[in-house]
Amino acid sequence: MVPDRPRVALATAAGLGFTDPDEALALTALDQAGIEATMAVWDDPGVPWGDFDLVVVRSTWDYTARHGAFLEWAASVPRLANPFAVLAWNTDKHYLADLERAGVPVIETRWLEPGDPPTFFDRPFVVKPAVGAGSRDAQRYEPGETGAAAEHVARLHAAGTTAMVQPYLEEVERGGEQAVIFIGGHFSHGVRKEAMLGEARLGREERISARAPSDQALAIARYALSVLPFRSPLLYARIDLLEGDGGAPVVLEAELTEPSLFLSHDAQAPTRLADAVAVAVSG
Ligand SMILES: Nc1ncnc2c1ncn2[C@@H]1O[C@H](COP(=O)(O)OP(=O)(O)O)[C@@H](O)[C@H]1O
Ligand SMILES: [Mg+2]
Repeated sequence: MVPDRPRVALATAAGLGFTDPDEALALTALDQAGIEATMAVWDDPGVPWGDFDLVVVRSTWDYTARHGAFLEWAASVPRLANPFAVLAWNTDKHYLADLERAGVPVIETRWLEPGDPPTFFDRPFVVKPAVGAGSRDAQRYEPGETGAAAEHVARLHAAGTTAMVQPYLEEVERGGEQAVIFIGGHFSHGVRKEAMLGEARLGREERISARAPSDQALAIARYALSVLPFRSPLLYARIDLLEGDGGAPVVLEAELTEPSLFLSHDAQAPTRLADAVAVAVSG
């Protein structure tokens, strides 16, 4: 008798208006690996999540406005990758402070909790929410724009979110942002992302190109993963770095929840993901 093919759901969001190019590549590679994979919307009440051998969180990019509901959903799914504990830790950028305490070079950040008076930097700076994704509500300000920045902080506080203030690392305009992608606990590939907060806002895919990380960026990314408060290797992880003032990379984000893995920028990446999913469902 032929054993049943494992069944896997890739969790996405409804009505994004566009799809992540990762999805088609992942579905094809999973099919080739003998896995029956379908897309499913995370907040669709009709999806029988418990019927899947694994639910893989992918393009759930609308969770930031409903953080609590998203974590409730994640806690309710019996077999989820990355697991609930990882998502609970990673969907709030306060995790950057944990990484910093563990010795990871992290971008300088001021945390303005609701009620804290705003203070800014005497150089171009960024205000963004602690629960955020896709550059939403992230904005760059000049040192003279403290009035507008304070209003931005007040809006984030009114929405119940901690505001983060960081120096704007201008090197991003030249060197871009380096993303380091890990699949199944192993380094897979790297991409460069164009600056998102500058004048030119390009189309989503135009902003990305394949670029291997420097040895230093790769070492920092590996170190960041090694100090995470979780034991087993993660199915997927993406560490985003910017070049700091002194020229050395600093971590901007550790994306362990719903990162684009930019699978189209490395010929082997879709197969790596499918193989890692196959290991996860058989384990
Ligand atoms: N401190 C910063 N200096 C320069 N660019 C920044 C800074 N913070 C954010 N950006 C830009 O804004 C984008 C979104 O910010 P990020 O921290 O990655 O939040 P998210 O991707 O979760 O929305 C980044 O990809 C980067 O281009
Ligand atoms: Mg980002």
